[in-house]
Amino acid sequence: MLIVIRNALAVLPQGDADVIGRHTIYINEDKIVGIDERPADFAEEDAHIIDGTDRLVIPGLVNAHTHTYMSMMRNCADDLSFMDWLFNRVDPIEGKLLPEDAYWGSLLGQIEMIRSGTTTFNDMQMHIHQTTKAVRESGMRAVICRGLVGGDYDRNDIRLQQALEEMEEGRECSRLSFRLGPHAPYTCGPDYLRMVADVAKEKGLGIHIHLAESVTESENMRKDHDCTPIEYALSAGIFDVPTIAAHCVQLSEKDIKILADHNVSVVTNPASNMKLGNGFAPVPEMMAAGINVCLGTDGAASNNAQNMFREMGYLSMIHKGTHATPQCIGAPEVFRAATINGAKALGLNTGSIEKGKKADLAILRLDVPSMMPNNNLLAALCYSANGSEVDTVIIDGRIVMEGGELKTIDEERVYSEIRSMCSRLGL
Ligand code: NI
Repeated sequence: MLIVIRNALAVLPQGDADVIGRHTIYINEDKIVGIDERPADFAEEDAHIIDGTDRLVIPGLVNAHTHTYMSMMRNCADDLSFMDWLFNRVDPIEGKLLPEDAYWGSLLGQIEMIRSGTTTFNDMQMHIHQTTKAVRESGMRAVICRGLVGGDYDRNDIRLQQALEEMEEGRECSRLSFRLGPHAPYTCGPDYLRMVADVAKEKGLGIHIHLAESVTESENMRKDHDCTPIEYALSAGIFDVPTIAAHCVQLSEKDIKILADHNVSVVTNPASNMKLGNGFAPVPEMMAAGINVCLGTDGAASNNAQNMFREMGYLSMIHKGTHATPQCIGAPEVFRAATINGAKALGLNTGSIEKGKKADLAILRLDVPSMMPNNNLLAALCYSANGSEVDTVIIDGRIVMEGGELKTIDEERVYSEIRSMCSRLGL
């Protein structure tokens, strides 16, 4: 489909900075084919025109760590300690889920993400088939990571075998890619992690893992293995393949150096970490060490939202507050963590508005109080916007929401299915 976004303010990269200027953007099929210059073979009369008056175009946000199906568990495990939350509340609900519950839960999460300008998510879960079905329908871009837990070096591990088979099902959809998702050091023995790393290496797959999320995890790791969770993952060979590590809250200086030296991308999840009482990741320190820091919401059972604007707000505020230094992280770094850094970590040709890149864009209204006046729009994106400004979303060159109306998902049906599922599960 040909699309022209005419004469809109847009956030474009210029060297290491993002600069806002007025541009016309041309989209053909799945790509941005021109910025200001109409390509010779582009027939504008056949194109869908989007008027850019009072609009801001941004690269679609990349939610680099979540569990979308858990949106059906929103607000049912609150104000609990991390281990109590996970083992006594979330795990028992997981045990009762039917496969289609994950499908509807994922769609619910995706509605919230599209409505707040997210175009890509990196998902860890055990329901690949259901999630890939939901992604095919919603039009979102996703990296699907099968959650894996185990103790032994077992190449016939049932979850791993299922993961490899289910990945094949999704291969034909260009918006889908796959990684292996060993859950965490406290649910994966060293031999099992070594096996997952070996399989990832052989199959050319990346890894997505939770690391150093809580004090309890770090204390138990010290007691049982006399190392940090980062050192544990390093010695299992996890960092020998492209790895995305979620959380990384409890880090030593040596841990930060290990992550930097091995080009591990770290996803920070400020809302989830605060809500579960896990503390604050050393984000300014990781950025200073050259680590590619991305931003994620984590699942709605711990956040309890899938809204990257809310997350950008937290990321920009908490480190200024905890470091008592307003300069330690600024709007430009926060915006990059929510866009290009996530795309880089996931190996995607998205995350910025550039000719030749995949057309994953969100268009925000500027004629709303949160964005008015339009003094510094990059600051507005991080400090003022709440996601409700998102008006139109384009993913892979396809309009999935226009004028606030979702084009790909029947919202009422999803809400009705979620209501009956929650009543069946007694939530
Ligand atoms: Ni998580």
